[in-house]
Amino acid sequence: MALFKTTERVLGIDISVSAVKLMELSRSGQRYKVEAMAIEPLPEGAMENRNPSDLDAIADALKRAVRTSGTRLKKTAVAVPTSNVITRTIPMPIEYDEDTIESSIQLDAPNYIPFALEEIYMDFQTQGPSKVSKSTQDVMLVASRQENVDLRRDVLQGANLKPLIVDVEAYALENTFQLLQESLIKKEESDGVQLAKSTDGGLTALVDIGTSITSLYVLRNGKVIFTREQTFGSEQLTQTIADTYELTRDRAELAKRSGDLSEDYPTTILVPFQRSVAEQINQALQFFFSADHYGAGNYTSVGNIVLTGGGAMVAGLDRTVAELLGIPTQVGNPFVHMGNASRVNRHSLLRDGPLFAVACGLALRSFD
Ligand SMILES: Nc1ncnc2c1ncn2[C@@H]1O[C@H](COP(=O)(O)OP(=O)(O)OP(=O)(O)O)[C@@H](O)[C@H]1O
Ligand SMILES: [Mg+2]
Repeated sequence: MALFKTTERVLGIDISVSAVKLMELSRSGQRYKVEAMAIEPLPEGAMENRNPSDLDAIADALKRAVRTSGTRLKKTAVAVPTSNVITRTIPMPIEYDEDTIESSIQLDAPNYIPFALEEIYMDFQTQGPSKVSKSTQDVMLVASRQENVDLRRDVLQGANLKPLIVDVEAYALENTFQLLQESLIKKEESDGVQLAKSTDGGLTALVDIGTSITSLYVLRNGKVIFTREQTFGSEQLTQTIADTYELTRDRAELAKRSGDLSEDYPTTILVPFQRSVAEQINQALQFFFSADHYGAGNYTSVGNIVLTGGGAMVAGLDRTVAELLGIPTQVGNPFVHMGNASRVNRHSLLRDGPLFAVACGLALRSFD
């Protein structure tokens, strides 16, 4: 599995529970432009445990996405869920070059990975000198069960696409996050808002609210240092709407997006949902602060919270989270400062930005 490295333009493909999302970016100087985008819903059950299950249905959705987007690219970057990978930082002698590291990892991996070597794909990245000793360097080892990767490769091939890079959702989001920070800073400046001074050593929480899973990432200096998944997502709100108003799931889904429901909807359903999202985020953060590792013991709060994923699009969620947790909170939209090709609908692009956070990070691999 080729993590991290490419010199070619790739399509970012997020194969997620609700839909397949496709993104092509180009860059000129420091400015990015959306060349193509598409989202095609997946039928219920197409994914199982966040991995492809109905390969034909997913390949068909991908083919439609490619067609409607108008992209000509065939090479792709996809991601496996963060919880599907094992990450270890391994100390190695500082003088080891990439080849020596590679052969040494082959020997050492069984000490770090709880799976047989023939069942996994591995890759590594050097992280520079270790903090502990000048004579060692940190090497980050990433491993995933082959099955998780192979299912995605098969789906892509079924749609006549080539898998070039297999990434991890956490790292794709890390990539997008750098853009998000820039656009949030620009927004604060143009609003005349004082930037929050980091009394916190620069911690940010990125919260990706998906269909049935919410992932919280704590970032320090733009790097993910902590991950936690909770089984809680935006589907919960759809279900509550369906049950309360006796609607089919599909109708409830539409009503959720438009907010076009009875007068008591905000107070009886919407706000309680927002509060439970805030509570979930709070729990995950408390778990992080109480953990001894990651240097978390030195922190009591994060400087800001960025919300992504479809769940972030629930009206007013950012305000409720900010109020309840007392932490500045924004919805992350990576496309605010990007241009777009004329075939890309600018309205959809700006509206659906949070949904494309992973796909965007994958498309950004083109410029590593
Ligand atoms: N405009 C909108 N307003 C409110 N909710 C929306 C909107 N668009 C999509 N959603 C919700 O977002 C959710 C899907 O989010 P997203 O696509 O980020 O999840 P996912 O990536 O499929 O899930 P996972 O990451 O677990 O695979 C759905 O529950 C959907 O109802
Ligand atoms: Mg997702």
